[in-house]
Amino acid sequence: MIPRKVDPRDEGRNVTLEEQIKTILPEQPVGKEALIPLLQQVQGALGYVPEEAVCLISEKTGVPASEVFGVLTFYAQFRLKPRGRNLISVCLGTACHVLGGGKIIEALQRHLDVEPGETTSDREFTLAEVRCLGSCSLAPVMVVNEDTYGRLTPDKAVKIVERYRDNGHDS
Ligand code: FES
Repeated sequence: MIPRKVDPRDEGRNVTLEEQIKTILPEQPVGKEALIPLLQQVQGALGYVPEEAVCLISEKTGVPASEVFGVLTFYAQFRLKPRGRNLISVCLGTACHVLGGGKIIEALQRHLDVEPGETTSDREFTLAEVRCLGSCSLAPVMVVNEDTYGRLTPDKAVKIVERYRDNGHDS
């Protein structure tokens, strides 16, 4: 399936999310077996699968929207919300919790103005709570993208996260 190109006449105007999704999906109807590949294509292009994609994929494949939604929520690989350029996972497993993991996540929540599971409005960061990152001897621990940081304090965590803003590190 080759995604359609955006019409050059559209350049310079704001393309709606629905229009964007239509350019990702094939023009012709496809079989049920294309359901997961289409979801993957949308996520690959947008970083998540927005609600708008559910109806459009349902129309293309003939699979009822409720079933498309069921598949989306069943597979952990799919995200229903946009994810930030950087993913911050703060450990709240036992060792990290005892050594102040709660204070780390609170400091980051305040600093980024998001709750765990949310993404900052500039899409720079997604904050997540996790249970044990397997580095308990370094507690309290957080992972930013692929990088592990241990023996954190709230101040240290905020400073580290700020290094990832803009071009600090590529995600
Ligand atoms: S409890 Fe945090 S790394 Fe294990």
